[in-house]
Order: sequence, then structure tokens, then C-alpha cells
Amino acid sequence: MSAVVSDGPLDWPSHPASPYFSAGRGPASERALPKRFHSKRNRLAMPVSFRVNGASVTVDVPPDMPLLWVLRDILDLKGTKFGCGISQCGACTVHVNGRATRSCRTRISTVEGDEVTTIEGLSSDGHHPLQDAWRELDVPQCGYCQAGQLMAASALLERNPRPSDEDIDSAMNRNLCRCGTYTRIREGIHRVAGSMTQDDTRSGNGGASNLPGQE
Ligand code: FES
Ligand code: FES
Repeated sequence: MSAVVSDGPLDWPSHPASPYFSAGRGPASERALPKRFHSKRNRLAMPVSFRVNGASVTVDVPPDMPLLWVLRDILDLKGTKFGCGISQCGACTVHVNGRATRSCRTRISTVEGDEVTTIEGLSSDGHHPLQDAWRELDVPQCGYCQAGQLMAASALLERNPRPSDEDIDSAMNRNLCRCGTYTRIREGIHRVAGSMTQDDTRSGNGGASNLPGQE
């Protein structure tokens, strides 16, 4: 299994109707939060420092805020998607120290000092070999799941440059795609397998990409 899931329940709203879920509407504002959350959450805020796509950042947030919330609502990195909020779909997959990780269930306090890579940092120019293969094969359909698929696939190739079908299925089977692009995802991974250089596999360089599924 490729995804790292935080232990224990997270007391954060995970439904799009939640005031903590911006869904592309811009950073969540204090005004949008119920008063009962203001005082409680603000009292608990603490600085957390880590690196995102090669840049050092410090955020002052409640320690149990999910990494996904910080990426989307505070750092405005909207390429990483919210799907289920309960670690079941993989849409929110990012790399934490090179490992595919579900950001919706990763407490921000647990990434102190870590290196986080999002889809925006997968390559400097949007031409990671997997991104090129995705274009050549027309892998995405609606595109919503594809940032998570690419982050899971790139983490797989970093630890296993020549995965078998079984390896791919094992690593990717918790990244869901409602459009059913699974066979093209597997073909894309095979196309790139064994052809990546060390530079290709080294992510977190702060670049931008223009793949479908990013905003
Ligand atoms: S949104 Fe994180 S696994 Fe679905
Ligand atoms: S491409 Fe539509 S959900 Fe995967």
C-alpha cells in the first residue's frame, strides 16, 4: 500500500458544505466560520514549519487541521483535490518525504520539518515523464482524480522503477477514478517505467504544471 494515513480520527468537517472546505472559492475566511469554531480553533493555533515544493513555509493553524486544508485554503495550492475526506479515494494524494500520503487525513502538526510535494511541484515545467505519458495517452477524462493518480504513480516509480501489473495495481488500487481510466493509467506507468532518470524522479522542485485537474 502506497498511501500513508494518519492514525486516529480527525475532528474536522470533511463535507463540501463545511465552512472549512473552500472548493476553489478562495481561502476560507474568518467570516465564514461559525463563532463556536473561532474561539476554540484560534486558541489552539500553533506555528508549523515545513517545505512545500522546495519552498519553506510556516503556517499558524490548529495542529489537527488536515494538510489538505492548509494546502488549498492557506497556501492556495488548488491542484490537490478534495474527494471523500476520509482517506478512501486518493484525490488528495501528495508526497510527504517522497511517500504518497493522503493529505485529507494528515494532521498538519505531523509534517513539521517535512518535505511536501504537490502536483504543482511534480516537475518544473509540467513535463514530468508521467505527465507527458498522460498527455500522449489521453489518460484523463474529467481529470478530477488525476493529480492524485500522478502523485501516487510517481511515488511508485521512485521506489520501483519497473513495476509489474501487480505492483501497479497494488500501489494504485486505492486511488479511485469514477471515469474508469484505470487501464490508461496502467499503460502510462508502463510507458514511463524504466526510462526515468534520477532528475525525473526527484520531485519537490517548486515547478508548475498545467495538467487537467489543476487550477
Ligand atoms: S479526499 Fe483524501 S482520500 Fe479522498
Ligand atoms: S478522470 Fe474523472 S474521476 Fe478520474
